[in-house]
Amino acid sequence: MIKAGVVGWPIEQSKSPIIHNYWLDKYNINGSYKKISLSPENFKLGIKRLINDGYAGLNITVPHKEMALEISSNSTERAKKIGAANTLIFNKGKIYADNTDGIGFLNNLTQLAPDWKADLGPAVVLGAGGASRSIVYSLLNEGAPKVILTNRTYERAKKLANIFGEKVLVINWENINKHISGINTLVNTTTLGMVGSSNLEIDLSTLSSNTLVTDIVYNPLKTPLLEDANRIGCKTVDGLGMLLHQAVPGFKGWFGVEPKVDSALRDRVLLEL
Ligand code: ATR
Repeated sequence: MIKAGVVGWPIEQSKSPIIHNYWLDKYNINGSYKKISLSPENFKLGIKRLINDGYAGLNITVPHKEMALEISSNSTERAKKIGAANTLIFNKGKIYADNTDGIGFLNNLTQLAPDWKADLGPAVVLGAGGASRSIVYSLLNEGAPKVILTNRTYERAKKLANIFGEKVLVINWENINKHISGINTLVNTTTLGMVGSSNLEIDLSTLSSNTLVTDIVYNPLKTPLLEDANRIGCKTVDGLGMLLHQAVPGFKGWFGVEPKVDSALRDRVLLEL
């Protein structure tokens, strides 16, 4: 039996077991995937114990993603650049770290908006947290000519922009509306629009209908931002697929099968929101 799981603090909210258990069932694999709660103080020792216990690897979530990269023996270029890992694969006592958030973001767009290409024009990214960092990385890596970055806390956006160089332009949060005409992609990586959170105040009237608008918030699935964008004729993609697609490389690394993100998986996860 191949063992894997997700480590976080807290961990109860994680949807990852639903995804991986769906695939274990679908591909008839003798494996398990569990939620594992580890506090920051117990993280390093806890990971050692899981390795000794025969685990094939783990997903890592808040607040351990940076530490997960630090304790790895080897990591992908993208994990290094993003500065955090969400997927660990164990091999002969060694820890191999990856960050699959950015590729999850891209593969979701490729699946649901196949005509969209990052290199067709500039992108605006709202927010400057961990998710933003992996999305900015992916957009640039896919050839976006420019990323306009904005965040409520300006300094945080500036710090993120410094990592990626001159293609990332930081603007004031109050000035978003002036920068969205003619862009190719608009991404919300903030928590605004999520159930229980306030709404994103943004005027989309100057946005071209060719712009792809996407949100990493998936509860609700259709955020007010996506509804507004639909109203003016933009193609929109919701954030649930990013969560599903980011899980693919880990599953393949641990269980040896590259799983498909299909509509039955989407429906299965939606039941739990
Ligand atoms: P994640 O790692 O998922 O990206 P995070 O690091 O907590 O999460 O980032 C949350 C993002 O939502 C940040 O960009 C945050 O802005 P600040 O850096 O200014 O905190 C943004 N955010 C959260 N609440 C917000 C609000 N009420 N208005 C504007 N932005 C908000």
